[in-house]
Amino acid sequence: MGLLLSPSILNADLSMLAAEVARIESSADWVHVDVMDNHFVPNLTMGLPVVESLLRHTTLPVDCHLMIADPDRWAPAYGEAGAGSVTFHVEAARNPAQIVKDIKATGARAAAAIKPGTEFSALNGFGAELDMILVMTVEPGFGGQAFMAEMMGKVRQARSFAQASDLDIWVQVDGGVDERTIAIAAEAGANVFVAGSAVYRADDPAAMVARLRKLAQHSGTGH
Ligand code: DX5
Ligand code: ZN
Repeated sequence: MGLLLSPSILNADLSMLAAEVARIESSADWVHVDVMDNHFVPNLTMGLPVVESLLRHTTLPVDCHLMIADPDRWAPAYGEAGAGSVTFHVEAARNPAQIVKDIKATGARAAAAIKPGTEFSALNGFGAELDMILVMTVEPGFGGQAFMAEMMGKVRQARSFAQASDLDIWVQVDGGVDERTIAIAAEAGANVFVAGSAVYRADDPAAMVARLRKLAQHSGTGH
C-alpha cells in the first residue's frame, strides 16, 4: 500500500473548480472534495451536481468526504455518480454497515470518518468491511485549522487494526496537514494525506504536492 496525496479543493477558487483541479493533476493521486450541508457541520459547500460536473472535468479519481446528516440516504449517489471513494461520518450514520454495503455496490471504495471527539471503537462491528478509515485531525467544517497531533493515537489504532487482520485498509488523515505535520501523520501510520490550504496557498500547488509526498516518504513506516 503506497502513500497517496489527496489535495482538498475546499480552499481553492471554487468559481473555477475545473481549472483549480487541473493545477494539481500532474502530481496528485486523488482529489478530495468536501461536501458540507450546514447541518452536520456549520458550513455549506457543494453537493452532488457539482461533484457530477467535476467528474466530467478531471482525470483524477474523486475522494468525496461527506460531512452531511443522513449519509444512509445520500452517500450511495456519490458512488453512482462515479466518485472513486465515498467517506461518511460515523457520527451521522444510522446503519453504518449498510452504508458501507450500499457504497460498495456502486463500485466505489467505502470509507468511514471519525471526528476528533469520536473513539476508534465507533468503528466496531463494521470496521473490517471498510476500504479506508479517515481520522480527522481537525474539527470538520473549515480549512486552515491547526493539526491535532493528539489524534495520532487513533491513527496508530487504525494502522494496527488493519495490520492485525491483514486487511487492505487505507488510513487517511485530514486537517492541518502541511510541510511540518505530514511527517507526524506518516510516522503514526497514515498512508493517505489530505491537504487543502497547504497546497492551494502555495505558488505552485503541484510542486507542493510533490514536496509533501517526499516528506511523507521519508518518515513513513513503509505502508
Ligand atoms: C475540513 C475538511 C478538510 C479541509 C482541510 O473539514 O474536511 O478536507 O479542506 O483543509 P486544511 O488542509 O487547510 O486543514
Ligand atoms: Zn475533508
